[in-house]
Amino acid sequence: MDRLRIAVVGAGLIGRRHVKLIGQSARCELAAIVDTAPAAVEFAAKAGVPIYSRLADLFASERLDGVIVATPNGFHVPHGLECVDHRVPAPIEKPIADTVADGARLCGAAEQASVPLLVGHHRRHNPLLTQARDIVAAGTLGRLVAVVGSAAFYKPDRYFQEGPWRSQAGGGPILINMIHEIDNLRVLAGEIVAVQATASRAVRGLPVEDTVAITLRFANGALGTFLLSDAAASPRSWEQTTGENPAYARSDDEDCYLLAGTRGSLGVPTMRLRTYPSERSWAQPFHTEVVRVDSADPLARQLEHFCAVIRREAQPAVSGRDALQTLRVALAIQEAARTGQIIATG
Ligand SMILES: NC(=O)c1ccc[n+]([C@@H]2O[C@H](COP(=O)([O-])OP(=O)(O)OC[C@H]3O[C@@H](n4cnc5c(N)ncnc54)[C@H](O)[C@@H]3O)[C@@H](O)[C@H]2O)c1
Repeated sequence: MDRLRIAVVGAGLIGRRHVKLIGQSARCELAAIVDTAPAAVEFAAKAGVPIYSRLADLFASERLDGVIVATPNGFHVPHGLECVDHRVPAPIEKPIADTVADGARLCGAAEQASVPLLVGHHRRHNPLLTQARDIVAAGTLGRLVAVVGSAAFYKPDRYFQEGPWRSQAGGGPILINMIHEIDNLRVLAGEIVAVQATASRAVRGLPVEDTVAITLRFANGALGTFLLSDAAASPRSWEQTTGENPAYARSDDEDCYLLAGTRGSLGVPTMRLRTYPSERSWAQPFHTEVVRVDSADPLARQLEHFCAVIRREAQPAVSGRDALQTLRVALAIQEAARTGQIIATG
């Protein structure tokens, strides 16, 4: 079977990881790069592929099976729409859009044209997430009561200098980082129906928030709290605790989530499962076991999944509509922080 020809638009931090993984895959090959930055010219030359500065030029010149959209958030919808117009399946990096209306427009166009649209919530392909989800779904924890989560980490100043869009409206840790956490929490604990939040930009003084305290209400009645900060020198984040991306230093034996039910609790990613062997009481010791999970690079698995979607062997694991609900919750957190109100997301 011929290798699928895939182009990457946006050869920045994440785009270059996609390029590397395409190079390692047996199912696809890199067809071209689209990027407006001068630095991308040398990168494309090293990768041995043509470079274009506009998607229109790419589509005019190349035969393609798929395009990975890894441009800054504000370009996701226009670039996604161009892919749909050319009937080329595309995974769009998260968040799907800056607004729900724009995201819905992209989903509608893809549905109308019957073009598969995926969104890069790559953690869905991490066995840790699916196994934790299965433990909750099996009822091992009893009725889910509480979720405690954190994404508290420190981004160096150069992160904002190298990508100025990250500190402007449409960037910021709610839309760049919390969007992943919301997606995880939806998988683990079910739909989020309401949020409250308090945000601060006191540390970095950028136009966007640097720290946010969030409360969540889930459809099943469970409540959650979440602490988000990109200015906190702490290891309590998915990236640092899971080690799924070698770009981030790993802190072993730390959890970024605690899922607690009436019968037991699960720490993620240590996968420490605590249940009561007899009487359920805080006076009693827990039975503790560590659930074994095989590790796998979710970004590589996402690429293999994309190839299967292109070949119509699979349906998108994270559809545009699914990602739209994750976006709706992220924007609700922004609105809750701005207004001080409880915002419904159901
Ligand atoms: N899935 C993940 O874990 C993950 C991780 C990081 C970033 N992201 C997402 O990926 C996207 C990119 O983030 P990043 O950190 O790689 O950004 P970045 O700034 O490092 O890279 C963006 C690239 O897009 C190029 N670009 C900008 N405008 C363009 C245009 N009009 N046409 C073509 N190229 C253009 C830039 O020159 C740059 O090379 C964002 O949406 C971000 O939220 C996802």
